[in-house]
Amino acid sequence: MIPRLGVNIDHVATIRNARGSQYPDPVRAAQMAVAAGADGITAHLREDRRHISDDDITRLRQEITVPLNLEIAATDEMLEIALAAKPHAACIVPEKREERTTEGGLDAAGLHNHLSHFVRELSQNGSRVSLFIEPDLRQIDAALSLGAPVVELHTGAYAESFFANDISRTEAILDDLRQAAAYGAKCGLEIHAGHGLTFDTVQPIAAILQVKELNIGHFLISEAIFSGLQSTVQKMKQLIETASTGDEQ
Ligand code: PXP
Repeated sequence: MIPRLGVNIDHVATIRNARGSQYPDPVRAAQMAVAAGADGITAHLREDRRHISDDDITRLRQEITVPLNLEIAATDEMLEIALAAKPHAACIVPEKREERTTEGGLDAAGLHNHLSHFVRELSQNGSRVSLFIEPDLRQIDAALSLGAPVVELHTGAYAESFFANDISRTEAILDDLRQAAAYGAKCGLEIHAGHGLTFDTVQPIAAILQVKELNIGHFLISEAIFSGLQSTVQKMKQLIETASTGDEQ
């Protein structure tokens, strides 16, 4: 089975918010991603709303045709929003206000009592709950005892060590990811993976048999700048030229 691709569109909103403008619109990006074959759309509504906004979530729910995976921290505010939005999937992630991105996985084992009502309420509301965890068997056991049907394995450390050219650490983390995926799937969990994946790092993760879904964002949006910049500059040049020569557009 080929893993599904969930496209995370957070960083389209990051660029929009940098100027306080209306564009680029993350919902338009989501629609383009779907047209290009994305199997799902992922968005992380952060406590500080640094990228995706509440309105983006409302519009994504109304305007996209593929499953929406809403990433949230385990807070009362986010629970209320997720219960109202009823996304196809809710992924519970750790969130620290000062971090640049989600650093490390959720401590499902240590936060068991805090997390249990989030997993229960979201599941009862019809969202498929996943927990974003490190590839650690203790965390898989905790996800199981919480009754979450899905875990998403954090690939950030793998991606970082790959780019640091630390081959032995990269292999060791890949081994942990493979073992966690095999163990989790054997226990009945659906296995997803994501964070920091690029063209260079995706394949060893996509090749893990038990991985059913990959969630990828920052690299896709970054790379889209380069695949789209040429035609965008050409169009701007053409508009300028036709305006100054009086030719019809
Ligand atoms: N999966 C989860 C749970 C995440 O929090 C993120 C980042 O928001 C991603 C996947 C995507 O990571 P990246 O943007 O680095 O591809």
